[in-house]
Amino acid sequence: MTRPSGGGAGESMATAKRTAELIRLFEERAPIARFFGMHLSYNEEGGAVVDLPYNPNLDHALGGIHGGLGGAASRPVGVRAVYDIYDRVDVPIIGVGGVDSGMAALEYIMAGASAVQIGTALVAGGLGVFEHVTKEMNSVLEDIGFKSVSEAVGVAHG
Ligand SMILES: Cc1cc2nc3c(=O)[nH]c(=O)nc-3n(C[C@H](O)[C@H](O)[C@H](O)COP(=O)(O)O)c2cc1C
Repeated sequence: MTRPSGGGAGESMATAKRTAELIRLFEERAPIARFFGMHLSYNEEGGAVVDLPYNPNLDHALGGIHGGLGGAASRPVGVRAVYDIYDRVDVPIIGVGGVDSGMAALEYIMAGASAVQIGTALVAGGLGVFEHVTKEMNSVLEDIGFKSVSEAVGVAHG
């Protein structure tokens, strides 16, 4: 696993401690992720990476080719990971995995994400997915009386 390179020694120690805590939480509290052998690490820039290490069983499931896991099936793992780390970190969280609608984006936002990333749904549906997701998200927020997305960040935590 690669640790992020930081500024001073104090900052590196704090980052390393946070990283260790994130990894511990992820491994302890995401049984689905554990089942698939996923693990959380940091890349050179300090970004969180959810990795799916080589697994002969999954390789078989993927038809003998190497690949990643994305789309709606990955959303419960992603939302759970965001929910679990929300109270523990002091940085904005980006929700990734299975965002294909405004409601799916809101699951991440309510769990604590400040933004979401869209991969599979973009490939499947084209650029229109951004307007579709944004429109649905704004319409749901308006219906329930929220003035902005930022007001909804983390509301699932009460
Ligand atoms: C066409 C495509 C290309 C991707 N390329 C990369 C990549 O270069 N690096 C990376 O870390 N993840 C890559 N991903 C993974 C996405 O960043 C994301 O983690 C994953 O697809 C889960 O989100 P989704 O359910 O919205 O697809 C790619 C995904 C897709 C669908």
